[in-house]
Amino acid sequence: MTQISANSDVPSMGRRQFMNLLTFGSATGVALGALYPFVKYFIPPSTGGAGGGVIAKDALGNDVVVSQFVATHNVGDRVLAQGLKGDPTYLVIENDGNLAEYGLNAVCTHLGCVVPWNSSENKFICPCHGSQYDATGKVVRGPAPLSLALVHTEVVDDKVSFIPWTETDFRTNEAPWWA
Ligand code: FES
Repeated sequence: MTQISANSDVPSMGRRQFMNLLTFGSATGVALGALYPFVKYFIPPSTGGAGGGVIAKDALGNDVVVSQFVATHNVGDRVLAQGLKGDPTYLVIENDGNLAEYGLNAVCTHLGCVVPWNSSENKFICPCHGSQYDATGKVVRGPAPLSLALVHTEVVDDKVSFIPWTETDFRTNEAPWWA
């Protein structure tokens, strides 16, 4: 009997340790699960490039490939892409044929229409109430109260990464109203 009892103690100690391990494991799992949304908040989305940017998508939802993009567009073009938070955002081809280091959020600062680029006028002209913005998106005629919001563009592996613009607005030398 004693021997059986001693023998049964051994596995029971082992079982207790095993149960402790399980309890610890599941508690850790619960804790990690609770932390997941918190941790995820600090991890850039999988489509992101360097600096937590978002890769620009074309109208079909494909990544914009910079070498193809500049080869198939003209100097001065402003071309819509999908930007931060899915906002329509213009990619700009500079006079030297390169992609500008900024993009322009196409949402009119009056009441939110998407503002088309008018190449013959060299302006963005809103079809809704006639607001106008110059080629850099600076408002030049109301009723829009503010210039188009800026984003940074960065080329990463031949793709365009849009990154939030939090610095001074180079068109007005003022703090960005959108940040
Ligand atoms: S929404 Fe663009 S001018 Fe009113």
